[in-house]
Amino acid sequence: MTTSLIVANWKLNNAVPEALMLVAGIEAHMKESPNVEVVVAPPFTALYSVGVALSDGTIKLAAQNIFWEEKGAFTGEVSGTLLKDVGCSYVIIGHSERRKYFGETNETVNKRIFAALRNGLVPIMCIGETLEEREGGHTFDVLEKQLKNGLATLQIKDLEHFAIAYEPVWAIGTGRNATSEQIAEAHHFIRNLIAKLYDAPTANGISILYGGSVKPSNAKEIFAQPNVNGLLVGGASLDAKGFCDIIAQSPGQR
Ligand code: PGA
Repeated sequence: MTTSLIVANWKLNNAVPEALMLVAGIEAHMKESPNVEVVVAPPFTALYSVGVALSDGTIKLAAQNIFWEEKGAFTGEVSGTLLKDVGCSYVIIGHSERRKYFGETNETVNKRIFAALRNGLVPIMCIGETLEEREGGHTFDVLEKQLKNGLATLQIKDLEHFAIAYEPVWAIGTGRNATSEQIAEAHHFIRNLIAKLYDAPTANGISILYGGSVKPSNAKEIFAQPNVNGLLVGGASLDAKGFCDIIAQSPGQR
């Protein structure tokens, strides 16, 4: 049984007290399983406290972004060294909100991936098309460009511990998740392209997650799609019980 990876993206939510309550709630409701890896991504300000709270358990810590330099005169930035220092083992890179609001490009995504790998952090690289791109028939061109440029000059060994999250922009925070067919098609395309760019074992070793309006009521069907190795959950991860209901739908738990 391959392990499912389920990542809670808290976005800009939860000060330290709420963050600690939420992880305590997840730990209380979650049925542990060696076949499921659960990761939470609090805002930077709560990473340390949540990391301490999680240190005896199995839930892992992720940051929502990483800067590509290690140190120096870069006001407002956070490096991989600092993320490791507070206990992170994963980092979300290139989320569509960063692409849309903060000028993230495929080139900066690539630099951030290198910074993550240098620091032993597993990158969760986000890709996905906008509604306009989908309706214009450009979905696969967009995904191909995001993947090729985001992964530029990475070697096979760099992809040994790596996750890609397919998140159609129009499905994020809208309550409208992609259909099973759309998910299966996109995940197949991603796996195939990695196999072409690298090789089949590398493609099969990468976790491909789906994200975009995942909730307890649709998680089971999404997990059942071929090439879905996990989920990136936003809004529904802010409620401990709901998030654990999603975890309980994973093939590793059923
Ligand atoms: P959502 O967000 O689950 O609230 O749609 C997913 C994400 O942005 O990662």
